[in-house]
Amino acid sequence: MMFASSLCTDSVAEADEIFEYFDDINAYIRSLRSPVYPFAIDAELAAAGEAVFVARCAGCHGTYAPAAAGDDGETYPNLLLPLDVIGTDSTVANAGENYGEMVQWFNESYYGKIVQLEVELPFPGYVAPPLDGVWATAPYLHNGSVPTLAALLESDTRPARWRRVDLDSANYDQSTLGWPFIATPYGQDDAPADQRKFVYDTSKPGHGNGGHTFGDALDAGERAALLEYIKTL
Ligand code: HEC
Repeated sequence: MMFASSLCTDSVAEADEIFEYFDDINAYIRSLRSPVYPFAIDAELAAAGEAVFVARCAGCHGTYAPAAAGDDGETYPNLLLPLDVIGTDSTVANAGENYGEMVQWFNESYYGKIVQLEVELPFPGYVAPPLDGVWATAPYLHNGSVPTLAALLESDTRPARWRRVDLDSANYDQSTLGWPFIATPYGQDDAPADQRKFVYDTSKPGHGNGGHTFGDALDAGERAALLEYIKTL
């Protein structure tokens, strides 16, 4: 919040005023709950999927109570995974090289008198994010390179160049968990001019869709169960 507000603050007096209501914003954010999946869920299949999740995913992503039940008893490991383990596009992680300068800038700024950051990044990587409400947040990975959860869990089905079919938020794909997409026959460079901005081209720097292959070893039944379980988060 400090970083974000420093982009639109013109004076120390204004920063003081904004800082006064940070606690209120924090309290509001803590009160937010992820949306409950609005379509039918096969409870038996989801229970089978929970076992897969606990065995294969929970070590990094934590454990969850059903979205409807609040967050009692949930766990969250908050792990930073090095690039050679996670294998996703390295561009953003490597940008953390300049993190030290950013921390120094922060500590010497107005906000430095309120808190001094001492955070050092041990190695470039990505944090395994909490998955509450993740069914609603396609596309996936930090760069939004994978259009659906089904494709995230089966890496050889991820499209190299794709676009959403439409921008209609009512048109949700319940079988793949994401927005309907089509693989495009063109990338960004050879797309028709009116299509260019809609095409996700994984050959572009920072846009790679590799890595996070933890779903690949599952069989089709386990994967279907896991997807059903993810609807409950
Ligand atoms: C070794 C740790 C690890 C394991 C095991 C793991 N993940 Fe992840 N997961 C991560 C990390 C790290 C990211 C962030 C990667 C990125 O954005 O580049 C991630 C990202 C994700 C995302 C995307 C979140 C988003 O908002 O885009 C989903 C969904 C996900 N994981 C589900 C799973 C599921 C389901 C399993 C079990 C099959 C699993 N993960 C196993 C570490 C792990």
